[in-house]
Amino acid sequence: MVKAVVCAKYGPPEVLQLREVEDPAPKRDEVCIRIFATAVTSSDCIVRSGDVNRVLWLPMRVAVGFRAPRRPLGMVLAGDVASVGEEVTSFKPGDQVFGFDRFGFGAYAEFKCMSGRGLLAPKPSNVSYEEAAAVPYGGLLALHYLKQGAIRDGQKVLVYGASGAVGTSAVQLARHFGANVTGVCSTANLELVESLGAGAVIDYTREDFLTRGDLYDLIFDAVPAVHRTVRLRGTGGLTPTGKYISVTDGSPKLHIEDLTLLTELTEAGRLRPVIDRTYPLEQIVEAHRYVDTGHKKGNVVITVR
Ligand SMILES: NC(=O)c1ccc[n+]([C@@H]2O[C@H](COP(=O)([O-])OP(=O)(O)OC[C@H]3O[C@@H](n4cnc5c(N)ncnc54)[C@H](OP(=O)(O)O)[C@@H]3O)[C@@H](O)[C@H]2O)c1
Repeated sequence: MVKAVVCAKYGPPEVLQLREVEDPAPKRDEVCIRIFATAVTSSDCIVRSGDVNRVLWLPMRVAVGFRAPRRPLGMVLAGDVASVGEEVTSFKPGDQVFGFDRFGFGAYAEFKCMSGRGLLAPKPSNVSYEEAAAVPYGGLLALHYLKQGAIRDGQKVLVYGASGAVGTSAVQLARHFGANVTGVCSTANLELVESLGAGAVIDYTREDFLTRGDLYDLIFDAVPAVHRTVRLRGTGGLTPTGKYISVTDGSPKLHIEDLTLLTELTEAGRLRPVIDRTYPLEQIVEAHRYVDTGHKKGNVVITVR
């Protein structure tokens, strides 16, 4: 038996329970990972609460479970390969890996199996397991949306919600693509966002960025829908060919090439994992309470062992 966090029913953080579950064994095409660190993402909190809009309610219950999620929660992992199924050739026991299993879950656990063809890649060699766990979620989503926004060298990009998991990645990745970045966040996070490479930072608690009259080629709204207090789409701030893109647009298709790029950028020191707090697996309820506030700085990481 191994330890895992299960969600006994949809609801507040207190529905999470650390339990003993069956030892997972890899199927033919699967990799079994001994997890050292995971992260509590905004998406984990949405799944736990079960609180989604009417359009998503039924598809989510069908996919995840009607009374409660069928599997232990957790989408992000960093660890070692414990064993592999007979068809897996790209990983072997002992490999250090990190990854993202958005629909498979099960990463709040000591062990987890996932497809060897999923979003699983060699862990950046220069960072700890905890730091590695702070990379895939924000990094993959930010890459997806910046590419959707056709980001290019020399563009003026504004990241709204620049201090969260997606936002801290977006600021750094936009810089990597050669953009001039303006980050928007609250007073407490101005210094952090500037340290990630934003050329300008705007405190949304004191100023509406639109009143400056600056125009952007791309506005990326990375604020989770539940925490949004202003509507940015269609309100201006864009050049005539500028684009507005939101982290809630569509259902992003994430690519293994992007995870590999995140490994390379982390190893090159161009992408710094931002960790706000670290909790042991036993304090998963406290970790969820904190992420629910909508004001974490970057990522909340869970040490599993
Ligand atoms: N489209 C999809 O299928 C898909 C898939 C996966 C994830 N997602 C979405 O991706 C998002 C990920 O968010 P995250 O993990 O990066 O969130 P997070 O880490 O909690 O960060 C939240 C950010 O929002 C800012 N913020 C909070 N309240 C604000 C307000 N009232 N006004 C302006 N800014 C505010 C925070 O800044 P301050 O703390 O400085 O206020 C922070 O920068 C989630 O919404 C999730 O649903 C979408």
